[in-house]
Amino acid sequence: MLLFFFLASTVLAAKAQADFNNPLINNLIYLLRPRYGSGGGGNGVSCLSWRFGVETNNIIDWSTIPEKCELYVGNYMLGEQYRKDSEVVIKEAYLYATSLNLSKDGKDVWIFDIDETSLSNLPYYARHGFGVEPFNLTSFTEWILTEDAPALPETLKLYKSLISLGFKIVFLSGRYEKTRSATERNLIYVGYKAWEKVLLRKDSDKSASSLEYKSAQRKQLVKDGYSIVGNIGDQWSDLLGTDPGNRTFKLPDPMYYIS
Ligand SMILES: *[C@@H]1O[C@H](CO)[C@@H](O)[C@H](O)[C@H]1NC(C)=O
Ligand SMILES: *[C@@H]1O[C@H](CO)[C@@H](O)[C@H](O)[C@H]1NC(C)=O
Ligand SMILES: *[C@@H]1O[C@H](CO)[C@@H](O)[C@H](O)[C@H]1NC(C)=O
Ligand SMILES: [Mg+2]
Repeated sequence: MLLFFFLASTVLAAKAQADFNNPLINNLIYLLRPRYGSGGGGNGVSCLSWRFGVETNNIIDWSTIPEKCELYVGNYMLGEQYRKDSEVVIKEAYLYATSLNLSKDGKDVWIFDIDETSLSNLPYYARHGFGVEPFNLTSFTEWILTEDAPALPETLKLYKSLISLGFKIVFLSGRYEKTRSATERNLIYVGYKAWEKVLLRKDSDKSASSLEYKSAQRKQLVKDGYSIVGNIGDQWSDLLGTDPGNRTFKLPDPMYYIS
């Protein structure tokens, strides 16, 4: 446990920007893996099976990760596997994108979710048990306002490829309007420098589920003449519902569930 807290604080000290490529952190993580790799050994479910269940949307409506999986999920997120799993998703998305012939009207859009898709909140979640603690909107909003979230490196690569192929990018996020300037500055700062739209939730909109909210926003895009050819997110609620897009791509996220 002590070693783990040491790891978490090392991550914070590194201020997130370089975390994904920090060999010190990666090497320490690998030392832990043989002992905690599948999070099994205790009573009941292995953490690897639990992760499979949540990534496939078989396990739904969960509010926190099992307490015994904190170390497993932390290792997964900070280690090499999260990166590798993301790379596979991005590679498929890129292959699909390059197989398309864009229409000439300039209305072909690719939707990007923000949290755990375009930007990583790992520095925040490392301080909050990688999803063991219940979600706290107040402290999470404070984190957003720091504008310190790093880019997910693979997603940023896809973004740049899509821009050069001629796609329009629409960021569609459940973040609230009151965080708009912080969110936009953070996006620009880490390399997402252009977009067609950044769609955020109205501050007063607290009722609809994310699935309903995102469906309504996409429906409006289609009504406005856009063609949603691709859509990438870390939650199934980003990718299900109305007008999800011709193809959807699911990034890993074993830390939280949004309906
Ligand atoms: C794209 O255009 C090329 C050349 O016109 C054509 O051979 C190909 O089948 C088209 N691909 C799709 C997916 O429409
Ligand atoms: C949520 O975060 C705020 C701000 O950091 C904190 O004051 C509050 O105690 C937290 N609430 C819970 C239930 O932990
Ligand atoms: C996307 O799907 C729509 C509706 O099914 C279809 O008309 C369109 O040709 C598709 N576009 C691409 C790029 O596959
Ligand atoms: Mg997300």
